[in-house]
Amino acid sequence: MRRRQLILGSLVAVLGWGVARALPPGTPTLQALAAARGLRWGAAVTNAQLQDPGFRNLVTTQAGLIVPESEMKWDGLEATPGRFDFSAPDRLLGFAREHGLAMRGHTLVWHQQLPDWVQTLPAEELDRALATYISTVVGHYRGQLQSWDVVNEPIADDGSGLRRDLWLERLGPDYIARALTLAHRADPGAVLVINEYGLEGDDPKTARKRQSFLTLLRDLRRRGVPLHAVGLQGHLYANGSGPTTFASLPAFLRDLAALDLDIFVTELDVNDRELPAAIPERDARVAGVYAGFLAAVLPEPRLKLITGWGLSDRFTWLNQFFPRADGLPQRPLPFNNRDATKPATAAIQAALLRK
Ligand code: G3I
Repeated sequence: MRRRQLILGSLVAVLGWGVARALPPGTPTLQALAAARGLRWGAAVTNAQLQDPGFRNLVTTQAGLIVPESEMKWDGLEATPGRFDFSAPDRLLGFAREHGLAMRGHTLVWHQQLPDWVQTLPAEELDRALATYISTVVGHYRGQLQSWDVVNEPIADDGSGLRRDLWLERLGPDYIARALTLAHRADPGAVLVINEYGLEGDDPKTARKRQSFLTLLRDLRRRGVPLHAVGLQGHLYANGSGPTTFASLPAFLRDLAALDLDIFVTELDVNDRELPAAIPERDARVAGVYAGFLAAVLPEPRLKLITGWGLSDRFTWLNQFFPRADGLPQRPLPFNNRDATKPATAAIQAALLRK
């Protein structure tokens, strides 16, 4: 498989599009190519990253949607009980509006980035805090967001069922339905999403996680719990330490569509941590994974959105969380560390152009 990826990625590089350069005039943007297929192309950003004029320009030309990478998490919005600070996400929403971009909400209920005061609450107070938080935050952005990641990563990593986090332990499995119902009550027009990772590959662990996810979704659908889409995060790998092939993915997407759910790719990037240092090979392998993944998801009619967890290699969470042993920065995103095109750009463009 690796050989095929390399060939494909190299082909893309040879196409000439892969030469790192500023976008030639008239090159279709990722958003334009996505829109031609009825999709949107998005990017996770932060206020700090948008202070850079070059990156700001890349986002406003290449993306049609942004999502706050970190500014909309509980520890930033309600650091102190009952005292909400929306200034950071409001700035991002202002930027989105100024440039005609949509914005997603990410994320309401997660086991990470919780203020200390939430983590120590007993069940009854935790439920009240959850209700206040969702009602206040979703109410504040009522009618202004493309969608909300209401629950993030609820499935256990080993696919054995729901993640055994403080939400499950203190509120029981119904915390998910409760969060969705609270969000719907606060904004009946909001598109509500459950967002998950580790659903993309062809390995047995992914298969187990998919089944646990489908069990949850089928139960919510059977009960008529408000839910409109699922988010496949799409954190991929350009080597064997994670999903690099997607033969089984189209059938899983059909299973999701059969539940009358839209499908969003919400955090797409390709981890090159285990690859050799040479940039041409790394870029070619990363491009090959983009090509293979998009070939698997783009034919799905319920796919509505593709959002990268970043847009330029200058800004990726992977260097903090998955640093390369050789200390070199990772190259996981559609544009390189000079915001210029790379083989991945060409691979994405080619995939979006393919009928
Ligand atoms: O803002 C504080 C800063 O004040 C402080 O000085 C600094 C000290 O470390 O921390 C800063 O907060 C960091 C935050 O990102 C903003 O940069 C946190 O430590 C850091 O843990 C946090 O990491 C984010 C992570 O989610 C946890 O929220 C990553 O940037 C972000 O890319 C990552 O994104 C998640 C998605 O939300 C859910 N799916 C998985 C994805 C990758 O983990």
